Amino acid sequence: MQKIAVCVSGGGTNLQAIIDSIADGTVKNTEIAVVISNKASAFALERARMAGIPGICINPKEYADKEQFAAAMTGTLKEYDVSLVVFAGYLVVVPDGIIKEYRNRIINIHPSLIPAHCGMGYYGLKVHESVLAAGNKVTGATVHFVDEEADHGPIILQKAVNVYEGDTPEVLQKRVMEQAEWKILPEAINLIGEGRVYIEDNIVHIRQDSDSVLPLSSRGGLKQ
Ligand code: GRF
Repeated sequence: MQKIAVCVSGGGTNLQAIIDSIADGTVKNTEIAVVISNKASAFALERARMAGIPGICINPKEYADKEQFAAAMTGTLKEYDVSLVVFAGYLVVVPDGIIKEYRNRIINIHPSLIPAHCGMGYYGLKVHESVLAAGNKVTGATVHFVDEEADHGPIILQKAVNVYEGDTPEVLQKRVMEQAEWKILPEAINLIGEGRVYIEDNIVHIRQDSDSVLPLSSRGGLKQ
C-alpha cells in the first residue's frame, strides 16, 4: 500500500479526482495519508475533511527561512510515512532540499503539454490564456516528476485536448481539467503504486504489467 501526500493551494478538484478514483477502485494499492496546503482557506482542505483525510496547513510564510519550512514539510511527510508526494495545484516554490530528499518521488500536474506554456508564471488561467494567444489547436495536461526547475522534470503521462473556436480561458481550463487532468493524475498515481514506472536516461518508461519490462522505446517487440 503506497501512502501519498497531496499538496494543494486551491479548490482541490484534482484532489477530489484522486479521492474518487481510490474510492471506485480505479487507483489501487494507494491511501491518501495526508493533505497539505499552504493556505488554511483552501477548499481542498474542506474536501479532505469531508473525506475523513487529515488536512494540515503548512504556510511557508510562517517560517523564518526556507530551511525551516522544508524541515516542517519533510517532518510531516515522514510522520505520515509518505512514499509519494503529489502536487495538485500547489502554488509553492519547493525548497531544493525537499526535492533532493524525495528525488523522483514527487509528481506534479500541469495544465498544458509540457514543454509548451509552462515554467515560472504559468499557472491557473494564465496557461490557457497563453494557449489561446498562441492560436494552438490542441492543448492538454502533463504529469511529471518534480525537479529543481518549474514544470521541468521527466514526463510520466500526457493527454491532449482540443481547442475550439470561441474558447475562453475559463471554458478551456474546464475542458482540460475534465478530459485530461482528472484522468491522468490518478492514472499516474496508480502506475507508480503498481511499480510500473521507471526512469532511464531521464526518460520515463511504463512497464506493461508488474512483471515484464517493456519500455516504451521497445514497443512492438521484446527488448533484445
Ligand atoms: C489545475 O488546473 C492544475 O493543473 C494546476 O492548478 C489547478 C488546480 O486546480 N496545477 P484544483 O485545485 O485541483 O481544482
